[in-house]
Amino acid sequence: MQYKEAIELMINRNSMKLVTAPAPSDEELSLAFTAAMSAPDHGKLRPWRFKVIRQENTKTFVDYAINLRQNSDKPLTDEKLAAVRQWIDDVPLFITIACHIDYNSQIPEQERVLATGCATMNLINSLQMMGYGVFWSTGIATYIEEFQTGLGFDPLDYRFLGFLAVGTPKMSIPQKERGDYHNFVEEWSAPL
Ligand SMILES: Cc1cc2nc3c(=O)[nH]c(=O)nc-3n(C[C@H](O)[C@H](O)[C@H](O)COP(=O)(O)O)c2cc1C
Repeated sequence: MQYKEAIELMINRNSMKLVTAPAPSDEELSLAFTAAMSAPDHGKLRPWRFKVIRQENTKTFVDYAINLRQNSDKPLTDEKLAAVRQWIDDVPLFITIACHIDYNSQIPEQERVLATGCATMNLINSLQMMGYGVFWSTGIATYIEEFQTGLGFDPLDYRFLGFLAVGTPKMSIPQKERGDYHNFVEEWSAPL
């Protein structure tokens, strides 16, 4: 593939929330996780941690998240809950994301969280380039400690960063207006 084609795929990528089976195959997931391993990473800490939740376990994951949220001090309204259910019950694969906190490391936490974000972006780009729909969510119970612990990411050792919903898009993925990069890029030549 020419580099322009690869870049075009990134330029035209869009998240897609509404997905259904089939999920990526083991081979496709393996390729995407291999790409995640190439994220920039100060100190070679490889702080990213992912857990794959396959279709036979998605109901357990979703019910666990929703029950914790509904028993929290900020339960979803009936209307919101119905909308969440309509989306999430059809998702055939989730990938949870966390950053490992290494207390002995000299590398600041924000750098490790950024490296985890970069690894996740490689994962997202790879899966989207294969034609899958991907949506990064920090919704439902992401910020409830018990949820993080239940997923195996003890908040003492990990920063939980949400989950990817992955599957086959239910419809063609709408393109978004992305804005003009000139408004985000400036030249610098000397201290202000
Ligand atoms: C760390 C992170 C967490 C996110 N959490 C949510 C979320 O909980 N709910 C939501 O509607 N969008 C969330 N988003 C945004 C969507 O994943 C998606 O990026 C957004 O809908 C814009 O689509 P795009 O990726 O095509 O630009 C999150 C994005 C990131 C990077």
